[in-house]
Amino acid sequence: MAIVYHEQSKTFHLYNAAVSYIFKVLPSGHLGQLYYGKAIHDRPDFDRLFETSQRSMSVCYFDDDTTYSLEHIKQEYATCGTGDMHLPALAARMPDGSRLLDLHYQGHRIAPGKPALPGLPATYVEQDSEADTLTVLLADPLAGVTVELSYTIFADDPAIARHAVIGYTGPGTLQLDRAMSLCLDLPDMDYEMVELTGAWARERHVVTRPLAFGVQAVYSLRGCSSHHFNPFLALKRPNADEFSGEVYGFSLVYSGNFLAQADVDPYHVTRVTMGIHPQNFSWTLKAGESFTTPEAVMVYSDRGLNGMSQTYHQLYRTRLARGAWRDRVRPILVNNWEATYFDFNEDKLLGLAAEAKKLGIELFVLDDGWFTNRSDDRGGLGDWEVNTQKLPGGLKGFGEKLNAMGMQFGLWIEPEMVNPGTKLWDEHPDWVLHQPGRRPQPGRHQYVLDYSNPAVVDHLFRHFEQLFDGVPLSYIKWDMNRSISDAFSCTAGPDQQGAVLHRYILGVYRLYQLLTDRFPQILFESCASGGARFDPGMLYYAPQCWTSDDTDAVERLKIQYGTSFVYPVSSMGAHVAAVPNHQVNRITSLTMRANVAAFGAFGYELDLTKLGDRGKELVASQVAFVKRHRRLLQFGTFWRLKSPFDSNEAAWMTVSPDRRQAIAADYRILQEVNVGYRRLKLAGLDPDVLYRVTPLGSGAVAAGQAEEVYGDELMQAGLVTSDGSCGENFTGEGDFISRLYLVEAVR
Ligand code: DGJ
Repeated sequence: MAIVYHEQSKTFHLYNAAVSYIFKVLPSGHLGQLYYGKAIHDRPDFDRLFETSQRSMSVCYFDDDTTYSLEHIKQEYATCGTGDMHLPALAARMPDGSRLLDLHYQGHRIAPGKPALPGLPATYVEQDSEADTLTVLLADPLAGVTVELSYTIFADDPAIARHAVIGYTGPGTLQLDRAMSLCLDLPDMDYEMVELTGAWARERHVVTRPLAFGVQAVYSLRGCSSHHFNPFLALKRPNADEFSGEVYGFSLVYSGNFLAQADVDPYHVTRVTMGIHPQNFSWTLKAGESFTTPEAVMVYSDRGLNGMSQTYHQLYRTRLARGAWRDRVRPILVNNWEATYFDFNEDKLLGLAAEAKKLGIELFVLDDGWFTNRSDDRGGLGDWEVNTQKLPGGLKGFGEKLNAMGMQFGLWIEPEMVNPGTKLWDEHPDWVLHQPGRRPQPGRHQYVLDYSNPAVVDHLFRHFEQLFDGVPLSYIKWDMNRSISDAFSCTAGPDQQGAVLHRYILGVYRLYQLLTDRFPQILFESCASGGARFDPGMLYYAPQCWTSDDTDAVERLKIQYGTSFVYPVSSMGAHVAAVPNHQVNRITSLTMRANVAAFGAFGYELDLTKLGDRGKELVASQVAFVKRHRRLLQFGTFWRLKSPFDSNEAAWMTVSPDRRQAIAADYRILQEVNVGYRRLKLAGLDPDVLYRVTPLGSGAVAAGQAEEVYGDELMQAGLVTSDGSCGENFTGEGDFISRLYLVEAVR
């Protein structure tokens, strides 16, 4: 890995074995983008890649060069008003009302390692040798604006992390209206844009569309990253698929309002920008102050979408997630939400926990409803006082009872919200986001606390610190159940209101930091009505996230498949729930449900006491199977093999780092009859290793003959997965079928 600066040609080349990123200081002092893609040899200059041409109606930078127009030069961090005609990376208002900005190179520094971003989640290194960082300083002296562009290239991953720091030297104050984390001009538009789109209970469905002229974007204005769009987009060549071809991934390490867009001009140049959404955002800078954007992580793959995802998985699992739980296999849990909703008492919970313990489950998670005034979702949020009618011994007493039966204790909280009727609501009306005189809008009957006010965060930290103190807690589920409206802070001045939503997220990050520092052994799972905040920002604090409120195995195929585009399997909370399923009323077998959830942070969310003997036996063997293989399931290299968005089938697999072990999963949604033969080509194995392949049946116990096959044959010819549906010999299996295959090296 290297970052080279060629003095004479003023060219920067960031490269490692997989990727090159090249830009230069242009004659005008602007930064020109020259190349981003597969690694190429370094050379003293790449000026041949700099293109301009005479185009009518263009604004030209030099009077004597009618080809030199910022409108037609591919740039690194574009501004508006002084020649470039596209949507910019940066926009601001100066005290004289000017919005004109023109940034010129001032200098740069290159250093080993990667500095942290103050108050923001970001990828990190453990040794300086893991990455190098280039910081380029730009300035517009007349506007008083400085910009530091930061680029970190990792030694072992085709990934580059970027962010910008915007400074102001005065006079007066600057209003920052738009400060993107990255801006990248690519020389053509021969791409399809891949995005993760959805809604509550169907998060992160994969949507692909050819790039067209103009703007195509995904975004959130909900105060959270949202169910609807994820802070991610990829540009892939039309011929790229899961296994081959070029893909550029862009992912924002942020949990609030975001914008991710590709803007194609009539000359086929594609500008990708990504960052905090400029709508409802403005940030005031006084002389000497600066603003740091969130980090964006760009990944290049010439191994298709799987290649891109595997880079994100590796980087985000090991160098974004942190803490005691980062590298530890996750406890198998039972959560009482879908088992009881609000209708529980201690006996019922302990009965469920005792049954779970018998079946080998390790952690009991007490979900919503354990605190005062919370018999439904209309009250209680904010005071966080235990309901001693439900839990007579308090949290401590309940936790100790769980521990005495050998179960760990996990607890649900929703610390960002308040319900009317609580003490918090009555005592601190100014702590609720709302504009005085305007009725704030409820969502799930609750209102949003003003996390942009540090006093609110401090209060909640003290409160939870006391609440958790002495309670034998192993796990916290931090929920957040509404979009944010009425983003007005009663304690902020008029010039601070545009900053409220960003400051809100900074407040969320601060509380996470305080709590995870204070309780380092607790495993945190983030959640937002299912997966409305499944984003890289959250992963920095909580190594796993509740993937979706949809627990149906068939729906989960799509949700987990899409989520895996960016996020590692270890980060996806995945539970086996009751049937008929509570979201879609579908009945799937226990085996199907477990075979989907096994590719995640595994657990159960149903009343286990109601299962018959056969059901309990199955659960016990599923739990044993996941325990035996969870390092492979959660931390192996994940390959998507067949997309549920394309057909009636889905398949994926996980391979151990030494390629000696793998587990493949093959799912069929609706049963078929008298159809063609089936093969499933595996991936990621060692072609020269002989593997024993064991088909696993219900409860993940061996079913059918194991066979010994070389890796090359498994990857080229595939597993033969033909079954009774390939003919009239109907075996009795109906819809929603799944099969696991255990693949183990023999020699
Ligand atoms: C939404 C979460 O996604 C659910 O899992 C559950 O915790 C409920 N909130 C509780 O209110």
